[in-house]
Amino acid sequence: MFITLEGSEGAGKSTLIEHLKKYFLKRNIDFIFTKEPGGTDEGIEFRKILLDNNIELDPLSETFLLLADRIEHVRKIINPALELNKNVLSDRYLDSTYAYQGAGRKINKDKLDKLIKPLKFPEPDLTIYLDLPVEEGLKRAKGRDSLDRFEKEEIDFFKRIRDSYLKLAEENPSRIFTIDSANGENEVFESAKDCIEKKLNES
Ligand code: TYD
Repeated sequence: MFITLEGSEGAGKSTLIEHLKKYFLKRNIDFIFTKEPGGTDEGIEFRKILLDNNIELDPLSETFLLLADRIEHVRKIINPALELNKNVLSDRYLDSTYAYQGAGRKINKDKLDKLIKPLKFPEPDLTIYLDLPVEEGLKRAKGRDSLDRFEKEEIDFFKRIRDSYLKLAEENPSRIFTIDSANGENEVFESAKDCIEKKLNES
């Protein structure tokens, strides 16, 4: 089972992951938790460049770095785990590229498709999208330490990203499950856990 978790800044992905890790450990359900960018040793190097505030990147260079990160991640972590029938949960994956580079950086969808489709990345069985109004998310994110290369973008960038996620969810109702992140961490966890367990029982 391949599950991905999506959401924009401050939506509560990290908190949800901590809850899910504890829950699956307690229930003895084996899950590999991983993330993008930076799910492999090589990816950690790509991630440093991608998040570095002092580096200015063309949107296409940014996209190529993210795709290089994903190629390594899929080849070294995701595919080997799926081949062994293991459960994988990735913090961000393909939808992030359509939301951030597509809508956020304004790379046309056909162009992105042409870059991405030939790479034959596996499709997630389930994607959990944590939705939160942009102002609320940025308020939460800005309470943290220094801002990275994405977090320092202006508010319209994040509004385009949220609209894009909502559109992706509307277009892929059987794959993407949306959770209202304003509900508070316990409710968000309960919804995510129920949705994942239902999917595990179906498979
Ligand atoms: P990270 O610190 O992991 O942030 P978050 O907690 O929000 O997941 O930083 C990852 C950043 O990379 C995040 O701002 C979104 C961005 N990103 C893209 O722009 N495109 C992508 O395809 C991926 C995977 C991530």
